[in-house]
Amino acid sequence: MLFDSHAHLDDKRFNEDREEVIARATAGGLEGILNAGADMFSSARAVELAARHAMVWAAVGIHPHDAKDAREEDYDRLAAWCALPKVVAVGEIGLDYHYDLSPREVQQAVFVRQLDLARTVGKPIIIHDREAHADVLATVKREGKGLAGVFHCFSGSVEMAREVLKLGFYVSVAGPVTFANANKLHAVVKAVPLERLLIETDCPYLTPVPFRGRRNEPAHVRYVAATVAALLDMEDEALAAAATANTKRLFGIA
Ligand code: NI
Repeated sequence: MLFDSHAHLDDKRFNEDREEVIARATAGGLEGILNAGADMFSSARAVELAARHAMVWAAVGIHPHDAKDAREEDYDRLAAWCALPKVVAVGEIGLDYHYDLSPREVQQAVFVRQLDLARTVGKPIIIHDREAHADVLATVKREGKGLAGVFHCFSGSVEMAREVLKLGFYVSVAGPVTFANANKLHAVVKAVPLERLLIETDCPYLTPVPFRGRRNEPAHVRYVAATVAALLDMEDEALAAAATANTKRLFGIA
């Protein structure tokens, strides 16, 4: 059984056919989808989707892109959502120095606030790190004591992956692992112990081969699984079972 550990089903690109997309995920052998929030609106949508669909779980949080819009009362609302049974993580949170859509010091402050929040509510975190490897690692080391979590859509080096593992975190890979030129990510997959590896789509983004250029969806997580299985010289089913078990363990999903 497969589990898409990071999706954005709340995205408006699914407004026309969201139910069919979820039905295709079930038909494609998925047992679960974790829908990550990115701002207050999408977090609310994630909570709603999880309440309505047995196979959907939610994470709630403020993405670094939207850090500039975070208000004090948002943290109380995030904490309240975290008390709901199908809200299993705080995320996605982190730093994004590629787009810099929020000032870096604001991204940093909102990230730290949500690390504190995760510790208070006792939930793992889902980290977004784009071109901010050193600062994300330093922040998690300094401010993330006692937290569990995952570096989603990992884009760092093998050396960075080792740091992430030392912190007790998981490494998650998405569609880019299927790209022919993904040598660095392939080396990471081989360096991470199987029990610390997650797979995801990050849909509607990061569509794997052979669907590049089209909208991504949770059912496509099997192409990520197949690529990772080939890299590790495993059967697809065995890889899927291991990654699913890891996802459920990290997020406390029974
Ligand atoms: Ni995402």
